[in-house]
Amino acid sequence: MKMKLLAFLFACLLPNVKGEGSSANWCYNLPTCNFYTWPTISPHFCNGSQQSPVDIVTRNVVINASLVPFTYSGFNDGSALQEITNSEGKTVKISVNDSKVNVSGGGLTDLYKTSQVHFHWGNGSSTGGSEHTVDSRQYQMELHIVNYKASYGNLTAALGDPTGVAVFGFFIEATNDSGNPGSWNNLTSFLSSIPSNGNSKNIGGQLALEDLLLGVNRTKYYRYSGSLTTPSCNEAVVWTIFKDTIKVSKDLIDLFSTTVRINTTSDSLMTYNFRGGQQLNGRIITSQTSSATTPHHSTFISAVLLAAGLWWFC
Ligand SMILES: *[C@@H]1O[C@H](CO)[C@@H](O)[C@H](O)[C@H]1NC(C)=O
Ligand SMILES: *[C@@H]1O[C@H](CO)[C@@H](O)[C@H](O)[C@H]1NC(C)=O
Ligand SMILES: *[C@@H]1O[C@H](CO)[C@@H](O)[C@H](O)[C@H]1NC(C)=O
Ligand SMILES: *[C@@H]1O[C@H](CO)[C@@H](O)[C@H](O)[C@H]1NC(C)=O
Ligand SMILES: *[C@@H]1O[C@H](CO)[C@@H](O)[C@H](O)[C@H]1NC(C)=O
Ligand SMILES: *[C@@H]1O[C@H](CO)[C@@H](O)[C@H](O)[C@H]1NC(C)=O
Ligand SMILES: *[C@@H]1O[C@H](CO)[C@@H](O)[C@H](O)[C@H]1NC(C)=O
Ligand SMILES: *[C@@H]1O[C@H](CO)[C@@H](O)[C@H](O)[C@H]1NC(C)=O
Ligand SMILES: *[C@@H]1O[C@H](CO)[C@@H](O)[C@H](O)[C@H]1NC(C)=O
Ligand SMILES: *[C@@H]1O[C@H](CO)[C@@H](O)[C@H](O)[C@H]1NC(C)=O
Ligand SMILES: [Zn+2]
Repeated sequence: MKMKLLAFLFACLLPNVKGEGSSANWCYNLPTCNFYTWPTISPHFCNGSQQSPVDIVTRNVVINASLVPFTYSGFNDGSALQEITNSEGKTVKISVNDSKVNVSGGGLTDLYKTSQVHFHWGNGSSTGGSEHTVDSRQYQMELHIVNYKASYGNLTAALGDPTGVAVFGFFIEATNDSGNPGSWNNLTSFLSSIPSNGNSKNIGGQLALEDLLLGVNRTKYYRYSGSLTTPSCNEAVVWTIFKDTIKVSKDLIDLFSTTVRINTTSDSLMTYNFRGGQQLNGRIITSQTSSATTPHHSTFISAVLLAAGLWWFC
């Protein structure tokens, strides 16, 4: 009985277990295969009820004091980032030596090894390109660090567990200067070496993961349960979205949408490679503290009413 169930689970999981960057017949920019069609062309998980990305409505965020800081290992290791790749014409991906980089803490129950980093963007710094949004605000880009529960041995094997994968999302916000920060100048200088689908280039010890995450206080984040944001959209992800943004100058952001292409150099540039927001369906987004930096409207009104009430009574 158990064996039959296992065999069934295995058989139905296999065709879908490919993870981000799979070669399934999906795309971002054609009406026949863009993200509106994924629930139909990859229905097994993409039509689920716990999909990602989502809009983070800050007034609905619930405080959870158990969301302690993470322990980051190897984020400063300049030899851990291996190759930068034009991955299936869908994203730019950096492979990480998962023996050298891992994370724990942060309310995660296990140690997770870091497998890869990739990016989502729009069409240059004047358009939105992030997958998650905050109070409907879409940032220019979003960086994802993909980590899998170490006990599974690899990312694919972790996709059957609702907490098998921990993805870290960082928002990229455009600044008006140029060539900044230097680490992103380094990163984007590799893009011209990977114009076509499948091209890759060794990063050769020039960058550590934390060099790309400048200006982010990595103790402040949102947490919710969701999915991969590309088919097959497996609902296996503990999402961590950092509140602080990485500030990158416009000229460097522009290089993503003007350098790498969806197939060969005669094909279209890679643009708008993000999935649109999905329904929360009752899921709750949590954080360490209230994220509102300015009093929310209703809070403000309550305060005014309270003050008025007090005045009336006094
Ligand atoms: C997706 O799920 C919804 C709700 O369960 C269902 O109504 C719809 O028919 C499904 N669509 C596809 C393409 O499977
Ligand atoms: C990854 O790191 C381990 C541990 O330092 C090392 O033994 C291994 O050779 C590295 N793998 C690659 C492909 O560099
Ligand atoms: C986590 O990363 C550190 C730093 O590279 C390394 O020493 C340690 O062996 C890693 N742990 C695991 C379980 O891979
Ligand atoms: C708070 O976070 C901890 C650690 O991740 C988790 O075990 C617990 O379920 C969370 N509580 C709520 C109400 O989300
Ligand atoms: C991206 O922006 C450029 C420059 O503004 C424009 O020429 C191009 O058509 C845009 N591409 C898409 C897919 O919208
Ligand atoms: C991933 O791990 C599973 C289970 O240990 C194993 O069967 C599979 O071959 C591994 N896949 C890769 C790509 O290493
Ligand atoms: C950046 O430039 C734009 C357009 O010139 C301007 O509207 C915006 O205020 C500038 N932002 C900053 C932070 O200076
Ligand atoms: C950028 O790359 C150069 C080599 O081209 C390297 O020496 C430098 O340390 C890198 N800078 C950063 C901030 O990573
Ligand atoms: C990060 O944020 C925490 C919580 O607000 C704060 O205590 C800490 O000092 C901050 N760290 C840095 C380096 O700013
Ligand atoms: C990508 O380019 C290769 C080489 O020109 C071509 O054989 C292939 O059909 C192209 N694929 C798509 C999906 O356009
Ligand atoms: Zn992603």
